[in-house]
Formats: sequence, C-alpha cells, structure tokens
Amino acid sequence: MPDLTRLRAAALNARAKAYAPYSHFAVGAAVETAEGRYFTGANIENASYGLTICAERTAVFAAVLAGASRIAAVAVTGPDGVTTPPCGACRQVLAEFGAPGVPLTYARADGGWNETTLGDLLPAAFDPASLDAARGSG
Ligand code: THU
Repeated sequence: MPDLTRLRAAALNARAKAYAPYSHFAVGAAVETAEGRYFTGANIENASYGLTICAERTAVFAAVLAGASRIAAVAVTGPDGVTTPPCGACRQVLAEFGAPGVPLTYARADGGWNETTLGDLLPAAFDPASLDAARGSG
C-alpha cells in the first residue's frame, strides 16, 4: 500500500526547492513508484513564462529518468493556505504513467489533504492504450 503520509512530507520538503520568482507560488510534488521508490519535484519557472514546468511533471520525469515506469501514488502541495490540485497538463502526464485507480493527495487551504484518484481527476484519459487501439484497427 502506498504511504501517503510519507509522500505528503516529501512533497512539502520538495516545495522548498521551487524556483518561482515570477508567481511566488511554490509547489512541491512527490511520487511513489510501483517499486516503492520515492521521487520529488518542484516547479521551475522561466523568464519566458510559458516555459515553466510544474512540480508534478518534474517529479514524474525524475522517476522516469531513474528507471521507473509506473506510478503508484502522488502528493502535491502549493503554498500554505492554498488548495492545490494538479493542473490539467500534469493530469495528462500522470495518466501516462499511472492507472486510473492510483491515489493522489493534494493539500487543502485549511491545512488538511484531499484524497482522490488519477481517474477521478482525468476521466476518459487519452493514454497509451488509446494508441494501441489505433494500431490494432490497422
Ligand atoms: N504549478 C505547479 O507546479 N503545479 C500545478 O499543478 C499548478 C501550477 C506551478 C506553475 C507555476 O510555476 C505556478 O505554479 C503558478 O501557476
């Protein structure tokens, strides 16, 4: 079973590494892989604003670069006092590596954490299986 408590703590620690001089909105994320390894990420902004990358994606990409291929759980936190669910782009990237039932927890404004799943956040995702189906139909 994924350890969401540990994952939340990892996301909070990772938030301190955010590079967010433009928005001042620091985000931290942590993923647990299918093998039980933990990877963290933070948002990294750019003077060319659109090149900013979110915390969730830096965490997922760190996991993939370390050899992981499946994600078993995710935690996300923004600034204290702000409810911070993952953005739409990150939901799509998470769906590439995690099944619909994978738990995702995100920090709430009141200091608690919401718990949901990748499938609830991105129903009917376009994912690798969508491409497999196209190949199969010739
Ligand atoms: N951000 C994330 O890191 N993850 C999200 O899911 C939402 C937004 C970052 C991007 C940008 O650096 C800042 O938060 C404000 O949008």
